[in-house]
Amino acid sequence: MAKITVSLIKADVGSVAGHSLVPQEIISLAEGCLKEAVESKLIIDFRVFNAGDDLELLITHRKGVDSEEIHGLAWNTFVKAANKAKEMKLYGAGQDLLKDAFSGNVRGLGPGVAEIEFTERRSEPLVVFMMDKTEPGAFNFPIFKIFADPFNTAGLVIDPAMHSGFIFEIWDIKEHRRVFMASPEEMYDILALIGSKGRFVIKRVYPKKGGKLPADEPVAVVSTEKLYEVAGEYVGKDDPVAILRAQAGLPAVGEILEAFSFPHLVSGWMRGSHNGPVLPVPFRYSKCTRFDGPPRCIAAGFQLCDGKLIGPVDLFDDPAFEYTRMKAMEITEYMRRHGPFEPHRLPHEEMEYTTLPKVLVKLKDRFEKI
Ligand code: F6R
Ligand code: MG
Ligand code: MG
Repeated sequence: MAKITVSLIKADVGSVAGHSLVPQEIISLAEGCLKEAVESKLIIDFRVFNAGDDLELLITHRKGVDSEEIHGLAWNTFVKAANKAKEMKLYGAGQDLLKDAFSGNVRGLGPGVAEIEFTERRSEPLVVFMMDKTEPGAFNFPIFKIFADPFNTAGLVIDPAMHSGFIFEIWDIKEHRRVFMASPEEMYDILALIGSKGRFVIKRVYPKKGGKLPADEPVAVVSTEKLYEVAGEYVGKDDPVAILRAQAGLPAVGEILEAFSFPHLVSGWMRGSHNGPVLPVPFRYSKCTRFDGPPRCIAAGFQLCDGKLIGPVDLFDDPAFEYTRMKAMEITEYMRRHGPFEPHRLPHEEMEYTTLPKVLVKLKDRFEKI
């Protein structure tokens, strides 16, 4: 039996009340497109979500990663959704579809992608994270905690299958290159890179060789598209998604979620230009209202059954995350009081795709030497 591929492909094709929420009409349209693909046996199963203003297509199939048919299906679904969004005069209709024509793969065309191909285990728990108003590097902190920090993941100490650690595939998204690094051996070097989350992002995590799981099948994957790098200028958000496999030699679902109990600071809030805490929320609160945020994350839990999705479980819909949300709102309050000052506003160098450089150009002749 061919391996299973889980693809999460997302785009902001338009939203209601500014950049808050994908309306039900668009969700239903996407569900209709993917239902046809199940009926024609192109895909096994699907779920459609929204993370704030992003339309999220979760698809299972046996076509492997980067499949033209699957990417084509997602692209056509986004195009239809964008057309509907234009008809409805939704805000930012078609925003993330940066090219007119599909050329075999959605990468570089605007949508974000996280895809993972693996041999389905006897029991295969999955956790899918979807964030809004932030950047791919927002996953660096929790993914590191999950797969490398024994204070987060007890299994790294207790479970012999995890005791030797994991391999991190880290992308340098500015220089378009990647490096594979081993944890715990190279932990400090890994942190030296991924602490710089605007440039170095964790793309995938692999088990080590000789363990319970095949070392060539990833156990976690993050979308790493950078919309502004694609478009050459700031055109929207690169709100990221991630897929993680869990349990039985991998971090438990609870260890995975534990990494989100600390509302770490990320960039991408309001106009893609502010830092703020990640707020873990139930699906129903995945709409960004306060200062277009704060940045937020939903988590959907599944069991796979021969590629069929059993679930979702709305994993952050739990009072156990109430304290984190309170903390995140305290931090929100604190950060907001800074107004246009750093570090709430992003550092100067990271504002290059905004109007800030234009202010400098305007004042060019008025600057005097000191
Ligand atoms: C978009 C986002 C928003 C917008 C802001 C300004 O996902 O994060 O904060 O950047 O609402 O949007 P425009 O320039 O479209 O009025
Ligand atoms: Mg939007
Ligand atoms: Mg968004």
